[in-house]
Amino acid sequence: MSVTPELLNATAAHYRNGELFIEDVSLREIADSVGTPLYAYSSAMLTQQYRRLDGALAGLAHQLHYAVKANSTLAVLQTFARLGAGFDIVSGGELSRVLAAGGNPEQVVFSGVGKSTEEIDFALKTGIECFNVESAGELERISARATLLQKVAPIALRINPNVDPKTHPYISTGLKENKFGILQHAALALYQQAAADPHLQVRGIACHIGSQICEPTPLFDALDQLLGLIDDLNAQGITLTDLDLGGGFGVTYEDEQPFDVDAWGRHVVGKLAGRRLKLSIEPGRFLTANAGVLVTRVEYLKPVEGSDDDQQQQGKNFAVIDAAMNDLLRPSLYQAWHGVLPVRENRSAPTRRWEVVGPVCESGDWLAKSRNLVLHEGDLLSILSAGAYGSVLSSNYNSRNRAAEVMVSGESFRLVRRRESIQDQLSTEVL
Ligand code: LLP
Repeated sequence: MSVTPELLNATAAHYRNGELFIEDVSLREIADSVGTPLYAYSSAMLTQQYRRLDGALAGLAHQLHYAVKANSTLAVLQTFARLGAGFDIVSGGELSRVLAAGGNPEQVVFSGVGKSTEEIDFALKTGIECFNVESAGELERISARATLLQKVAPIALRINPNVDPKTHPYISTGLKENKFGILQHAALALYQQAAADPHLQVRGIACHIGSQICEPTPLFDALDQLLGLIDDLNAQGITLTDLDLGGGFGVTYEDEQPFDVDAWGRHVVGKLAGRRLKLSIEPGRFLTANAGVLVTRVEYLKPVEGSDDDQQQQGKNFAVIDAAMNDLLRPSLYQAWHGVLPVRENRSAPTRRWEVVGPVCESGDWLAKSRNLVLHEGDLLSILSAGAYGSVLSSNYNSRNRAAEVMVSGESFRLVRRRESIQDQLSTEVL
């Protein structure tokens, strides 16, 4: 597979006069200015995606809580904060980022199976909107900390509805074999316990069944189960005001049908009509994935001599680029497919099939496999759909510095994260 016009159309990247652009800025110009590898994001596309999802729920009381884990760069968070987004966090670090970016703590929901005492205290003192509680032990700990701090903790229980989201097993979270959430049969007793606790305020119910979901049926199944539970609770005198359906809305990386947010929205709006519930969702990937690219330079070509046929027998053609698994882990971790395009368009017929690999000393360090490309050493390449779970999953493996990040807006761009330096890396250590 190569990059189809449909895929290119779904991303923020586009060719203009033979050069790849984000909005009105050439990626070559950005690379010349900040070096490679670099992440570039389109602020217009972040905004457009946010508005699409928000618009799909028009007519319903709702709040988008952007899942910070998808891309926690401050400038990205700030873009969403300015649009009125709330935030879904999974650590104290993410809460600090939301606050630094100007996010409203009263619109923050805190998910995750392992909230520490320090993180719970930080969230209680900051006054977040809700803890999405994932176990009986966590409920007890939140209650104890709230009592100690003389606070009342707003809570929702995150239910594991045991629904198969039909996605990669590593990003499936709503099956009973997954570590996430509370199984339904245990939920009623926990709600009763929470309702009787003066230091807990029972607000809602939550679920998140997985990520990169392209077909809405599993999400609808989960919704039905949660509505059933809400009714059961009502019958017992426990009234919930908030319903959080999590994230998971899929995007096009290769040839996937993108998630139809409008059809999904119509279904959800219909289901919730007449109920006094505030709906919340926690989108991450849908808002950021295709708004971002990773720009990299070809360092070396290691072609097999001879024709394409010879390659079958003699091994593979390797294009070694200056980005690696430490910059974009998704291919190595999930065998994820990301489109690769030359920044300077080349219309001559590709003669070789390349393995696009990084400099890291691991055979698993590849960014793309078997791509028909015309390549020269020094060429700039753009790896598409890198705006979600890209920079956030980067590491210093092989003592590599984390990439620079740039926010493009119209005809201008800003360096929003400078490239890390080796001094940054060494500064936390002593001999
Ligand atoms: N809410 C919760 C509780 C989550 O755990 C997640 C993602 C989201 C919301 C956002 O899901 P999204 O809308 O982005 O699908 N690293 C993987 C994805 C891991 C997703 C983890 N949880 C990847 O690169 O595909």
